[in-house]
Amino acid sequence: MKKVLAFGGSNSSTSINKKLASYVASQLEDATVNVADLNDFELPLYSPDLEKEIGVHENAVKFSKLIEESDAIVLSLAEYNGSYTAAFKNLFDWMSRINQKVWKDKPMMLMAASPGGRGGANVLKTTKDLMPYFGGNVIADFSLPIFHENFREEGIVDEAKAKELKEKIQIFQEAI
Ligand SMILES: Cc1cc2nc3c(=O)[nH]c(=O)nc-3n(C[C@H](O)[C@H](O)[C@H](O)COP(=O)(O)O)c2cc1C
Repeated sequence: MKKVLAFGGSNSSTSINKKLASYVASQLEDATVNVADLNDFELPLYSPDLEKEIGVHENAVKFSKLIEESDAIVLSLAEYNGSYTAAFKNLFDWMSRINQKVWKDKPMMLMAASPGGRGGANVLKTTKDLMPYFGGNVIADFSLPIFHENFREEGIVDEAKAKELKEKIQIFQEAI
Protein backbone atom coordinates (compact mmCIF):
# COMPACT_ATOMS: atom_id res chain seq x y z
CA MET A 1 0.00 0.00 0.00
CA LYS A 2 1.31 3.44 -0.93
CA LYS A 3 0.80 6.35 1.44
CA VAL A 4 -0.69 9.34 -0.36
CA LEU A 5 -0.91 12.82 1.13
CA ALA A 6 -3.75 14.87 -0.43
CA PHE A 7 -4.52 18.50 0.33
CA GLY A 8 -5.82 21.76 -1.05
CA GLY A 9 -3.67 24.88 -1.04
CA SER A 10 -6.35 26.79 0.82
CA ASN A 11 -7.60 27.40 4.35
CA SER A 12 -11.25 27.60 3.30
CA SER A 13 -13.41 25.17 5.27
CA THR A 14 -15.33 24.53 2.02
CA SER A 15 -12.26 24.40 -0.22
CA ILE A 16 -13.03 23.16 -3.73
CA ASN A 17 -9.36 22.30 -4.11
CA LYS A 18 -9.41 20.07 -1.06
CA LYS A 19 -12.43 18.33 -2.59
CA LEU A 20 -10.65 17.82 -5.91
CA ALA A 21 -7.45 16.58 -4.25
CA SER A 22 -9.44 14.18 -2.08
CA TYR A 23 -11.42 12.88 -5.08
CA VAL A 24 -8.31 12.31 -7.20
CA ALA A 25 -6.47 10.54 -4.37
CA SER A 26 -9.52 8.30 -3.84
CA GLN A 27 -9.18 7.09 -7.43
CA LEU A 28 -5.70 5.66 -6.82
CA GLU A 29 -5.32 1.93 -6.38
CA ASP A 30 -3.36 0.29 -3.56
CA ALA A 31 -3.20 3.59 -1.71
CA THR A 32 -3.88 4.74 1.83
CA VAL A 33 -4.94 8.37 1.61
CA ASN A 34 -4.38 11.04 4.24
CA VAL A 35 -6.39 14.17 3.42
CA ALA A 36 -4.77 17.07 5.26
CA ASP A 37 -6.43 20.40 6.04
CA LEU A 38 -4.28 23.52 6.29
CA ASN A 39 -6.48 24.70 9.16
CA ASP A 40 -5.02 21.91 11.29
CA PHE A 41 -1.57 23.41 10.70
CA GLU A 42 -2.24 27.04 11.48
CA LEU A 43 0.86 29.21 11.35
CA PRO A 44 1.73 32.79 12.21
CA LEU A 45 2.95 34.84 9.27
CA TYR A 46 6.55 33.90 8.59
CA SER A 47 9.11 36.48 9.63
CA PRO A 48 12.87 36.12 10.11
CA ASP A 49 12.51 37.75 13.52
CA LEU A 50 9.91 35.25 14.66
CA GLU A 51 12.06 32.41 13.37
CA LYS A 52 14.99 33.75 15.44
CA GLU A 53 12.74 33.78 18.46
CA ILE A 54 10.96 30.42 18.17
CA GLY A 55 12.81 28.47 15.47
CA VAL A 56 10.77 26.79 12.73
CA HIS A 57 7.17 26.67 13.92
CA GLU A 58 6.07 23.20 15.08
CA ASN A 59 3.16 23.05 12.61
CA ALA A 60 5.54 23.52 9.69
CA VAL A 61 7.71 20.75 11.15
CA LYS A 62 4.61 18.54 11.47
CA PHE A 63 3.51 19.14 7.88
CA SER A 64 7.02 18.52 6.63
CA LYS A 65 6.98 15.17 8.47
CA LEU A 66 3.70 14.29 6.75
CA ILE A 67 5.41 14.85 3.41
CA GLU A 68 8.42 12.80 4.51
CA GLU A 69 6.21 9.88 5.57
CA SER A 70 4.24 9.91 2.28
CA ASP A 71 5.05 8.07 -0.92
CA ALA A 72 3.21 10.57 -3.11
CA ILE A 73 1.47 13.95 -2.97
CA VAL A 74 -1.82 15.09 -4.51
CA LEU A 75 -1.98 18.86 -4.29
CA SER A 76 -4.64 21.16 -5.70
CA LEU A 77 -3.91 24.87 -5.48
CA ALA A 78 -6.42 27.63 -4.99
CA GLU A 79 -5.64 30.76 -6.99
CA TYR A 80 -5.85 34.16 -5.30
CA ASN A 81 -5.06 37.11 -7.55
CA GLY A 82 -3.10 34.98 -9.95
CA SER A 83 -0.97 33.25 -7.32
CA TYR A 84 -0.97 31.05 -4.21
CA THR A 85 -3.21 31.74 -1.26
CA ALA A 86 -1.33 33.37 1.59
CA ALA A 87 -2.06 30.30 3.74
CA PHE A 88 -0.29 27.96 1.30
CA LYS A 89 2.62 30.33 0.66
CA ASN A 90 3.11 30.83 4.38
CA LEU A 91 3.31 27.08 4.99
CA PHE A 92 5.68 26.76 2.01
CA ASP A 93 7.91 29.55 3.36
CA TRP A 94 8.04 28.07 6.86
CA MET A 95 8.82 24.57 5.54
CA SER A 96 11.55 25.94 3.26
CA ARG A 97 13.41 27.02 6.40
CA ILE A 98 13.83 23.33 7.33
CA ASN A 99 15.08 22.28 3.91
CA GLN A 100 14.81 23.93 0.50
CA LYS A 101 13.67 20.58 -0.91
CA VAL A 102 10.26 21.17 0.63
CA TRP A 103 8.47 18.52 -1.46
CA LYS A 104 11.21 15.92 -0.95
CA ASP A 105 11.15 14.60 -4.55
CA LYS A 106 7.90 12.74 -3.88
CA PRO A 107 5.88 12.04 -7.03
CA MET A 108 3.30 14.79 -7.21
CA MET A 109 -0.01 15.29 -8.97
CA LEU A 110 -0.33 19.07 -9.17
CA MET A 111 -3.73 20.61 -9.84
CA ALA A 112 -5.75 23.79 -9.57
CA ALA A 113 -9.50 24.36 -9.56
CA SER A 114 -11.53 27.53 -9.69
CA PRO A 115 -15.19 28.51 -10.00
CA GLY A 116 -14.24 30.60 -13.07
CA GLY A 117 -13.23 29.63 -16.57
CA ARG A 118 -9.44 29.63 -16.23
CA GLY A 119 -9.20 26.88 -13.65
CA GLY A 120 -6.37 28.46 -11.70
CA ALA A 121 -4.17 28.36 -14.83
CA ASN A 122 -1.78 31.04 -13.53
CA VAL A 123 -0.95 29.47 -10.20
CA LEU A 124 -0.72 26.05 -11.83
CA LYS A 125 1.76 27.19 -14.45
CA THR A 126 3.99 29.23 -12.16
CA THR A 127 4.05 26.50 -9.52
CA LYS A 128 4.81 23.79 -12.05
CA ASP A 129 7.77 25.84 -13.32
CA LEU A 130 9.06 26.51 -9.80
CA MET A 131 8.60 23.04 -8.31
CA PRO A 132 11.93 21.56 -9.48
CA TYR A 133 13.78 24.17 -7.39
CA PHE A 134 12.01 22.95 -4.27
CA GLY A 135 12.23 19.19 -4.64
CA GLY A 136 8.90 19.03 -6.44
CA ASN A 137 8.58 16.04 -8.76
CA VAL A 138 5.49 16.87 -10.80
CA ILE A 139 4.38 13.75 -12.65
CA ALA A 140 1.11 15.14 -13.99
CA ASP A 141 -0.85 18.37 -13.79
CA PHE A 142 -4.52 19.14 -14.20
CA SER A 143 -6.71 22.21 -14.13
CA LEU A 144 -10.45 22.14 -13.44
CA PRO A 145 -12.39 25.28 -14.45
CA ILE A 146 -16.03 26.06 -13.59
CA PHE A 147 -15.76 23.75 -10.60
CA HIS A 148 -19.34 23.96 -9.40
CA GLU A 149 -20.70 22.78 -12.77
CA ASN A 150 -17.91 20.32 -13.45
CA PHE A 151 -17.43 18.51 -10.16
CA ARG A 152 -19.63 15.84 -8.61
CA GLU A 153 -18.64 13.45 -5.82
CA GLU A 154 -18.92 10.64 -8.38
CA GLY A 155 -16.70 12.33 -10.95
CA ILE A 156 -16.08 15.13 -13.44
CA VAL A 157 -19.07 16.18 -15.58
CA ASP A 158 -17.28 17.64 -18.62
CA GLU A 159 -16.40 14.64 -20.78
CA ALA A 160 -13.11 15.94 -22.17
CA LYS A 161 -11.93 16.97 -18.70
CA ALA A 162 -13.04 13.63 -17.22
CA LYS A 163 -11.04 11.78 -19.90
CA GLU A 164 -7.97 13.98 -19.38
CA LEU A 165 -8.11 13.46 -15.62
CA LYS A 166 -8.47 9.70 -15.96
CA GLU A 167 -5.39 9.57 -18.19
CA LYS A 168 -3.38 11.75 -15.83
CA ILE A 169 -4.38 9.66 -12.80
CA GLN A 170 -3.17 6.60 -14.71
CA ILE A 171 0.19 8.24 -15.42
CA PHE A 172 0.49 9.26 -11.76
CA GLN A 173 -0.52 5.79 -10.56
CA GLU A 174 2.28 4.25 -12.61
CA ALA A 175 4.83 6.63 -11.06
CA ILE A 176 4.02 5.94 -7.41
C1 LIG B 1 -8.87 37.18 -2.60
C2 LIG B 1 -9.33 36.28 -3.70
C3 LIG B 1 -8.70 36.32 -4.92
C4 LIG B 1 -9.10 35.47 -5.95
N1 LIG B 1 -8.42 35.49 -7.13
C5 LIG B 1 -8.70 34.57 -8.08
C6 LIG B 1 -7.89 34.48 -9.26
O1 LIG B 1 -6.95 35.20 -9.46
N2 LIG B 1 -8.19 33.51 -10.16
C7 LIG B 1 -9.25 32.65 -9.96
O2 LIG B 1 -9.48 31.78 -10.80
N3 LIG B 1 -10.04 32.71 -8.86
C8 LIG B 1 -9.78 33.65 -7.91
N4 LIG B 1 -10.54 33.71 -6.77
C9 LIG B 1 -11.66 32.78 -6.60
C10 LIG B 1 -11.16 31.44 -6.06
O3 LIG B 1 -10.75 30.65 -7.15
C11 LIG B 1 -12.28 30.75 -5.28
O4 LIG B 1 -12.52 31.48 -4.10
C12 LIG B 1 -11.97 29.31 -4.97
O5 LIG B 1 -13.08 28.72 -4.33
C13 LIG B 1 -10.72 29.18 -4.11
O6 LIG B 1 -10.42 27.82 -3.91
P1 LIG B 1 -10.78 27.05 -2.54
O7 LIG B 1 -12.28 26.89 -2.53
O8 LIG B 1 -10.06 25.75 -2.67
O9 LIG B 1 -10.31 27.90 -1.42
C14 LIG B 1 -10.17 34.57 -5.73
C15 LIG B 1 -10.81 34.53 -4.48
C16 LIG B 1 -10.40 35.36 -3.48
C17 LIG B 1 -11.08 35.30 -2.12
